[in-house]
Amino acid sequence: MLDDKIILGFETSCDETAIAIMKGDELLVNTISSQIDIHEKFGGVVPEVASRAHAEMIRNIFHSSLNNANLQISDIDIVSTTDGPGLVGSLVVGYNFAKSIAWSIDKPFFTVDHMVGHLAAPLIENKTMKPPFITLLVSGGHTQIVLVEEWGSYQLLGTTIDDAAGEAFDKLSRFCGFGFPGGPAIQKISEGGDPAKIELPRPKTKHEYNYSFSGLKTAATNFLNNLDIEDKVTRADFAASYQEAIVDSLLSNFVKAVNDTGVKSISGGGGVMANSRLREKMNIFAEEKELNIYLPTPKLSTDNAAMICVAAQNNLITNDMNIEDVRLSSIIT
Ligand code: KG4
Ligand code: ZN
Repeated sequence: MLDDKIILGFETSCDETAIAIMKGDELLVNTISSQIDIHEKFGGVVPEVASRAHAEMIRNIFHSSLNNANLQISDIDIVSTTDGPGLVGSLVVGYNFAKSIAWSIDKPFFTVDHMVGHLAAPLIENKTMKPPFITLLVSGGHTQIVLVEEWGSYQLLGTTIDDAAGEAFDKLSRFCGFGFPGGPAIQKISEGGDPAKIELPRPKTKHEYNYSFSGLKTAATNFLNNLDIEDKVTRADFAASYQEAIVDSLLSNFVKAVNDTGVKSISGGGGVMANSRLREKMNIFAEEKELNIYLPTPKLSTDNAAMICVAAQNNLITNDMNIEDVRLSSIIT
């Protein structure tokens, strides 16, 4: 049904102005314009600054994406965009721009939940991923274990009760002056470090699948505040030990959920899934338990618009929707 349909996707929920175009299964362009340089000096994303930057960039990024795909605006068959969760000002820019494009060319307009986008991301490169599976969604704002019994049926098994995993990386990195965003900065510094050098907690919560990271962050900052000159701990050891504690915590609940439900396929998504240690441990677990594993590449784990395109496509396919039938109703909503 969607074999040759051209779908345009927008993702502007945080600090990336991202636009992708797919023709059926083929990813034609995946433009990601990051605002890291703009927010770096603040040590975190400033919402007002982010929405202004999206508004300034989006038109040019749209035109360059069309040019790179060798397409005219009239070639687009479907328009999709993230409608949340995320920074409201940033979302509004992408949503309104996408809807205006759909309206101007009289084509269907679909919205996609940002986390459903992350959940669908492995499909960009691997159409064999099929429910039932359990996915670990780990981003700057969310940490979720989701059981996908069938497409569209998403059962939240566990979530964080305080900080998200990405937030735990970002906040400690800001505290230590390691760089922004914190996840990639800590991963880089951890290279060559000893992950067992510093004893840090693996926090537990009352609910077996829920997460908590704020105590770990406090334990790490306390460790630094009480550090003795005699302690022979390098930056790499410290970063590696902190990363290991986050990865171990993520894995332990996830492994339990997979074992309890008995599913045979696992998956993941969100910016923290770009972490090489987390990917390594997910792969080892899958191999030991002989599970199918579907991880998006690191570039497709962090925010991008290709995941919005595939999630919209997947929704259309699994609901057997005819895009011409929904064209008028979707454009008005
Ligand atoms: O999904 P994402 O790109 O944006 C949100 O939806 O939040 O995730 C961003 C988060 C940030 O907290 C960032 O520090 C983290 O993902 N992240 C990483 C890595 N790359 C990005 N965390 C650990 N290791 C990485 N390599
Ligand atoms: Zn995200």
